[in-house]
Amino acid sequence: MTGSPVFDFNNMSFAYSRQAALFNNISFQIHSGESVALLGANGSGKSTLLKIMCGLCHPQSGSFQAFGRKITGADFEDDSFSKHYHARIGFLFQNTQVQVLTTRVWDEIAYGPLQLSLPRSEVQRRVEDVLAFLDIGHLRERSPYRLSGGEQKKVALASVLVLNPQVLIFDEPTNGLDPRTQSWLVSVLLKLNEQGRTLIIATHNLELAHTLCPRSLLLSEQHQIIFDGPTDHILNDHEMLREANLIADFYHTHHNQMHTHRYTHQ
Ligand SMILES: Nc1ncnc2c1ncn2[C@@H]1O[C@H](COP(=O)(O)OP(=O)(O)O)[C@@H](O)[C@H]1O
Ligand SMILES: [Mg+2]
Repeated sequence: MTGSPVFDFNNMSFAYSRQAALFNNISFQIHSGESVALLGANGSGKSTLLKIMCGLCHPQSGSFQAFGRKITGADFEDDSFSKHYHARIGFLFQNTQVQVLTTRVWDEIAYGPLQLSLPRSEVQRRVEDVLAFLDIGHLRERSPYRLSGGEQKKVALASVLVLNPQVLIFDEPTNGLDPRTQSWLVSVLLKLNEQGRTLIIATHNLELAHTLCPRSLLLSEQHQIIFDGPTDHILNDHEMLREANLIADFYHTHHNQMHTHRYTHQ
């Protein structure tokens, strides 16, 4: 079940300063409650598009609306707008180390809610809830800098979830995680979507898109959206996947036998 538009891109164009346009006239919508994969090869523009959704980059022309309101760079000069926008839209960076702000996991997770000036007791309750939800209570006294990659990802996710965002944006969430942590993350994301949260997941992991996202957007290496529709359709369109550089050598030889894979070798 999906509802009102969360994000609405209308003929949006974007360039990093003084460079040629990266995006030209991009239009699409994402609705409340959807789980959408943003697929594309390295350099296709996935992270940049997510940064626009998070208010970290701003279009040069066309419009970008969030929750029915046009969003511009000037909005983020207002500290209160900025804090509340980031509480509504949680963003898990690809490199979660850049998100670390304190030296103790508990304080790390409490940081965002304290910034929102929530009462101490409410902050405490929220931190304990999220520690329990993600089953990471044992990490509470540890230093975020001394955790394994998987543990760091869990703490970064906790720091996002503690703000109770309606929309969750993930940049390559499974990169660098071991298989058990990957499947743990997938089950958490499925649970969050079942709770009604909107998920947007940038990835070139087609298995992940298949498992988590009924809908996919595909960015070409020329930064255009060349597909917007059911994930099952795009995963069966090998021609387009190859054109977008998401699969290669679809027909190849192992043990002298010519065979095919639906996905690339991981
Ligand atoms: N801060 C930046 N300044 C200038 N160019 C950038 C910046 N960040 C990314 N780019 C360029 O924008 C293009 C898209 O990058 P990105 O959005 O990171 O793609 P993806 O996440 O799909 O790998 C690439 O050509 C990249 O080099
Ligand atoms: Mg990226």
